[in-house]
Amino acid sequence: MKKYLVIGNPIEHSLSPKLHNYWIKNKDIEAIYEKKKLNENEIENLILEIREQKIHGVNVTVPFKRKIINYLDDLSLEAKKTQSVNTIYLKDNKVIGHNTDIEGFELSIQDLKFDITDKKIFILGAGGVVPSIIFALNKMKAFEIIVSNRTKSKAEELKNLFENLKIVEWGDIPVFDMIINATSIGLNKDDKINLDFNKMGKNKLFYDVIYNPNQTNFLMTGKKLGNKTENGKLMFIYQAFLAFNLWHGVQPKIDEDVIKLLDQ
Ligand code: ATR
Repeated sequence: MKKYLVIGNPIEHSLSPKLHNYWIKNKDIEAIYEKKKLNENEIENLILEIREQKIHGVNVTVPFKRKIINYLDDLSLEAKKTQSVNTIYLKDNKVIGHNTDIEGFELSIQDLKFDITDKKIFILGAGGVVPSIIFALNKMKAFEIIVSNRTKSKAEELKNLFENLKIVEWGDIPVFDMIINATSIGLNKDDKINLDFNKMGKNKLFYDVIYNPNQTNFLMTGKKLGNKTENGKLMFIYQAFLAFNLWHGVQPKIDEDVIKLLDQ
C-alpha cells in the first residue's frame, strides 16, 4: 500500500486527504493519503522516509512551502522560480520539489473564461501562495501586478523573485480589473478586511484563495458592489489534480460530486 501525506502546521483544516482518498478509491489504486502536523525539526526525517520509499508523495502547505526547499535534492523550474514547493516525489533516487499551485491557479482562471491579458491585477497579501499566483499571472500576460501587504517589507521581498511588481501601502486601493485576496482574513467567517472598496467601479473580478468558508466577507462585499466573484475551490482542486496525476500517472475526475465533496 503506497502512502501519501499532506504536511503543514496547523493541518486539521486540510481537505486534501478527503479529495485524494476519494480519487484513490474511484481509480482503484492501492494507496492511502493522510495529513500530518509537523515541526520543522521533523522535516529531515520525513525526506528520509521518501528516499526509502516508505512515503511515496507529499503535499506541502503553510508554513513549509519555502522552508522545505533546503531539504530537497532538486526543484522543478516552477518551484525554483517561485521558491515554493507544494508537491514532492522521488525520481531516479532524487527527492524532487514541484509546484502545482501555479497551474492550479491558471486552470481555475481558464474555467472562469476570464482573460488576464493586459489586465491590472491587485493582490492582497504576501504569504506562501502569492509567488505562485504572480508567476501564473505573468505567464498569462497580465499588464500590471500590484501587491499590498500589512507588513510592507514582505511585499517588497517579492521583488527579489519578480522584478515587475508594484507595491502599495496597506489601505491604498489602486485602479484594478481583478483583486485577489491571498491573506488569511476570511478563514474565520466573521473576519473582515479593513479596506474600503466603495470608491471603485464595478464589473471587476473578486477572487478569494480561501474556499472554506465558501463565501468570505470579501466576496460578499465584491458581489454586493456589482462584481463577479470566485472562491479558491477550483484552484485547490486543480493543484490536487495535478499532484495526483504526477504521482499515480492517471487523471482523476473533476465533476459536481468532487466539488460537493469539499462543501462543509
Ligand atoms: P505566511 O505569511 O506564514 O506565509 P500565509 O497564511 O500564507 O502565511 O499568509 C498570511 C497573509 O495574510 C500574510 O500576507 C499576512 O500579512 P502579514 O505578512 O502582515 O502577516 C496576511 N494577514 C493575516 N492576518 C491579517 C490581518 N489581520 N490584516 C492584514 N493582513 C493579514
